[in-house]
Amino acid sequence: MLEHLMEQIPELEERFKRARDRGNWEEGVDCLKEAVKVQQALSVHYFERRRQSKKKGNEKDARWAEQEGKRRLEKAEEWNLKRKQIEERQAFPSREKKEEAEEGGDPDKNAEWLLKERPQVSFDDIAGLENAKEQIRIRMVYPFLNPQLAKKYGVKTGGGILLYGPPGTGKTMLARAVASEIDASFFTVRPSEIMSKWVGESEQNIRRLFKEARENPASIIFIDEVEALLPPRSEDAPAVMKRLVPQILAELEGIDSEGKNPLLFVGATNEPWNIDAAILRPGRFDEKIHIPLPDPVARREILRMNLADKPLVDVDFDALVERTEGYSGADIRHLCQKTANTVFLEAVRSGEERDITMDDFDKVLATLHPSVTNAVLERFDAFASGKDPS
Ligand SMILES: Nc1ncnc2c1ncn2[C@@H]1O[C@H](COP(=O)(O)OP(=O)(O)OP(=O)(O)O)[C@@H](O)[C@H]1O
Ligand SMILES: [Mg+2]
Repeated sequence: MLEHLMEQIPELEERFKRARDRGNWEEGVDCLKEAVKVQQALSVHYFERRRQSKKKGNEKDARWAEQEGKRRLEKAEEWNLKRKQIEERQAFPSREKKEEAEEGGDPDKNAEWLLKERPQVSFDDIAGLENAKEQIRIRMVYPFLNPQLAKKYGVKTGGGILLYGPPGTGKTMLARAVASEIDASFFTVRPSEIMSKWVGESEQNIRRLFKEARENPASIIFIDEVEALLPPRSEDAPAVMKRLVPQILAELEGIDSEGKNPLLFVGATNEPWNIDAAILRPGRFDEKIHIPLPDPVARREILRMNLADKPLVDVDFDALVERTEGYSGADIRHLCQKTANTVFLEAVRSGEERDITMDDFDKVLATLHPSVTNAVLERFDAFASGKDPS
């Protein structure tokens, strides 16, 4: 049985890679799900072996089995995360698109890096950030839902917004949620792909991206880690950047309110100071929205979201909210997962199930520090208030 499980891993890895290369994300996700199960089964096996070895007094083997069990569990977690990322972003190009492209369809329409999708996440899935949500509603949602009124009062629909803030605060989630709030097509591009795969073609691709987006009734173009695409222009910048930045600037200025099809350009970054200053001037990004660490109300909500389906006993939410000050949303999610994992592990080893207690959280909190440092926070505050953040 063990050998059988072991053999499955490289096979699944191989299948996953093939699915990825073919752009078949559904199969890729299936492979990862299967791989998670196999790793979990292996971890259970090793923890059982540890127990047996302990009983026999074979400490050395018990230690080894424990290490193996932990390693497998970590792998399972890693793959599960990958699966989630793929599912959330549908990170592969769709099969149909790929097949069409192979049949020699219009290459403009089938640019492989151009992912068009309908994200499922909504504003309600995002805790806090009320200010940011309201700014987005004013800029995009209200004019979009009331086009006649917007026209009457000369209110612009669409434009550019920049979401900036420390890592793990919900910027990517928020950008995706905008698309589902207004039921717009969502185009997303990774700067690394534009830069690496499309050497010599980056400019054409930018043009195609904006062109295709404009052909849809309503679109959002989302560029995550946008600083990579819009670095400050300098003498020694690569030639491609020297051409790309002005072109994106021109496209952004071309997003006009008169256009039939509203287009919103959303960039997200956790290094706003590494973006070309010209891009940050009004008219390009109309709105620059600071996405801060979660406040107490948002932290409570994020805790609630992440613990809703877990067995808890005597967990003091007030205390958790207080103790997670300075933690990002992603940190809090990590805290919840890690705590649940510890109790799970214990149950696997002991064969006894129990609920998660405050004590479990305390232990994990003692080892888990906020991922965002004070120095970084100060830099964001300085940037937000228009001071020199360096
Ligand atoms: N406000 C929030 N409400 C709910 N969940 C959140 C919130 N902020 C962060 N999270 C959790 O953290 C994860 C990471 O969030 P996200 O990827 O949107 O962060 P980000 O700001 O884009 O980070 P980065 O700058 O590293 O790209 C989310 O999948 C979610 O689970
Ligand atoms: Mg992000």
